[in-house]
Amino acid sequence: MALLPILQFPDHRLKLVAKPVEHFDANLEKTCADLLETMYETQGVGLAATQVNIQQRIIVIDTSDNQSQPYCMINPKLINAEGEIIWEEGCLSFPGVFAKVKRSANITVEYNNTKGELQTLHATELNAVCIQHEIDHLNGITFYDHLSPIKQKMLRKKLDKLRDKSL
Ligand code: NI
Repeated sequence: MALLPILQFPDHRLKLVAKPVEHFDANLEKTCADLLETMYETQGVGLAATQVNIQQRIIVIDTSDNQSQPYCMINPKLINAEGEIIWEEGCLSFPGVFAKVKRSANITVEYNNTKGELQTLHATELNAVCIQHEIDHLNGITFYDHLSPIKQKMLRKKLDKLRDKSL
């Protein structure tokens, strides 16, 4: 396994639209394992392949407290979305900043597992938020794109400040 460097906003590669996975092979297994390791190492609850510049439709998620519920979703697709939920979101491509985003509260997602088998999952709460956030990444969209221009400006200022401090 390997830790992968995570693209940081405003890297333009975060805006790329990822391609569907067609080959369910050992390479894909390795990519999933690397994504999960990178997510755990950086204390994230979700990571999209886009964020490590692998432009394929792969996301990993684990919202458990003890890294016990890893999901690797290939070609994930929302097939149902209902209700509304507002969650304070963060993102590994925007370290240290958070913002409230409105999303669907109850979702059903269809995806392939690493063997190519079709799976269906119903998700609510943080899981639903996380899956929508990560699928967005595969379409070149970040949580920043959901914010009003004023909130975007505030978030950028805060990010700049944090980066100045860490230099
Ligand atoms: Ni993110």
